[in-house]
Amino acid sequence: MRHDRHSPIGVFDSGIGGLTVLRALQERLPQESTVYLGDTARVPYGTKSGDVVTRYSVKNAEALMEYGIKLLVVACNTASSVAIPTLRKTLSIPVLGVIEPGARAAAQATKNGHVAVIGTPGTIKSGAYQRALQAELPNVKVEALACPLFVPLAEEGWVEGEVPTAVAQRYLAGLKGTGVDTLVLGCTHYPLLSDVISQVMGPQVTLVDSAKATAQRAAELLGERDLLKTGLSSVERHYLVTDVPDRFVEVGGRFLGRPLSGARQIDLKFG
Ligand code: DGL
Repeated sequence: MRHDRHSPIGVFDSGIGGLTVLRALQERLPQESTVYLGDTARVPYGTKSGDVVTRYSVKNAEALMEYGIKLLVVACNTASSVAIPTLRKTLSIPVLGVIEPGARAAAQATKNGHVAVIGTPGTIKSGAYQRALQAELPNVKVEALACPLFVPLAEEGWVEGEVPTAVAQRYLAGLKGTGVDTLVLGCTHYPLLSDVISQVMGPQVTLVDSAKATAQRAAELLGERDLLKTGLSSVERHYLVTDVPDRFVEVGGRFLGRPLSGARQIDLKFG
């Protein structure tokens, strides 16, 4: 399908977490229509192999292409860390992941060149953030740490109090003495836990949320290609999921920052 400046932006994630990126996109580009796909039938991606996550990502992208999207935003950090080269090779539209914008924001934020990144096991193992940070700041020192329990905590809404604080203290203990001055929240779910993470790390550590940086980069990319929509006329918001929408609608509002309605279930065909 052909696209022009009135076409929507496509966004996908393994499930609900990418709504934090969608929220930043909708705030930065309120005039743009969006189609969001949460692959709720196959979540989580963070513990799966790079090959499997890439295969799922291609299917997600193909489903979004049917909406004639003009830009694909890969909101999932795990998918961004392994599938971007394949998606860029396969698709005729620009593809934007969350890793490069996040790494750029961290490189701008750090004063001592010592940066930590936390994410899913898949993201950390891929080394994608480590490489992107090095590309931005050749002498950067990077600490990388997987914090898998943060995902279910955020989904349950356990984002403050005793339990998330204890989990954060346990995970982040090893990072605290390293001297990092910047911490990248390298997973869609972690911004919901930013208060707890910040309390544990202390005020001297700046937290970087790649959602805002990604939204900013999306605006630049569309501008560069003359694809920015002007005017607020007929803004459409579509929500697609691959499992029944109940839980997505219930929990998604917390990630999007406002109630979510009208999610539709689709089937991705795996041959
Ligand atoms: N969306 C994933 C990410 O940002 C977290 C959830 C998952 O493991 O699928 O890495």
